[in-house]
Amino acid sequence: MYSLKTLLTSGIGRKLINWATAVGLFGFVVMHLLGNLTLFANDDGTAFNAYAAALHSLGPAFYLIEIGLLLLFVFHIYSGITMWRQNRAARPQKYVAGQKSKNGPSHYNLSSTKMAISGIAIAAFVIIHVAQFRFQLFTSDVEQYALEGGGLDLYALVADVFSNPGWVAFYCGAILFLGWHLRHGVWSMVHSIGSMNRGGGKTSYAVAAVIGLLLALGFFVLPIYLYVGSL
Ligand code: HEM
Repeated sequence: MYSLKTLLTSGIGRKLINWATAVGLFGFVVMHLLGNLTLFANDDGTAFNAYAAALHSLGPAFYLIEIGLLLLFVFHIYSGITMWRQNRAARPQKYVAGQKSKNGPSHYNLSSTKMAISGIAIAAFVIIHVAQFRFQLFTSDVEQYALEGGGLDLYALVADVFSNPGWVAFYCGAILFLGWHLRHGVWSMVHSIGSMNRGGGKTSYAVAAVIGLLLALGFFVLPIYLYVGSL
């Protein structure tokens, strides 16, 4: 039986943690996108505010979900960084440009540095994003977003933020990193459970790329849509 310490320190344990947290985070990204799509539902944001209010009305369960989500991020980042360092230590020499193995380039090794770079960018984005929308830390007058019947007009806050082209550029830039991360991440997630046969490498990488692209595209159009609406 694995202890938590063995899981955190052994190579296989870290891979397992990285995979399991990736599955959880992937689920969150899909759910978050579906929830955010209610921003398109109507111009006064009632659908989006109702969705946010329904989540907050879960009370203690909502906070438990948030803690779970935070743990998913922390363990994913920890296992990702230690695996990346392990990879670098095992292969100190860089790949020769254009080098190919019998079955084509190894997506795992070639992408691990890209995953680390895009992962760090996403982590930085999430910290700023959560401070901005979940805790309204960049809003000096939160009272202006108070709804008459109580609660927060989250739609108005999101629409105000995305009326600023600087924020739109920041979000769109971060989402490009997300698409990049998901492209390899989704492939790796499926590959790890062995559902890919040896010959299907290229096809499953293309399918993963399309899934990553669709998710990123969904997040990408939201700030642009709200910016155009604010003109
Ligand atoms: C245009 C794209 C996005 C919009 C409009 C958006 C909107 C929001 C809003 C309004 C909240 C606050 C929810 C609440 O207080 O109930 C939130 C929370 C959050 N978002 Fe996003 N989001 C976007 C993209 C992303 C992306 C790409 C990620 C991560 C990869 C992300 C991760 C999070 C996290 C972790 C939270 C905190 C959840 C919680 O504590 O309840 N968001 N987002």
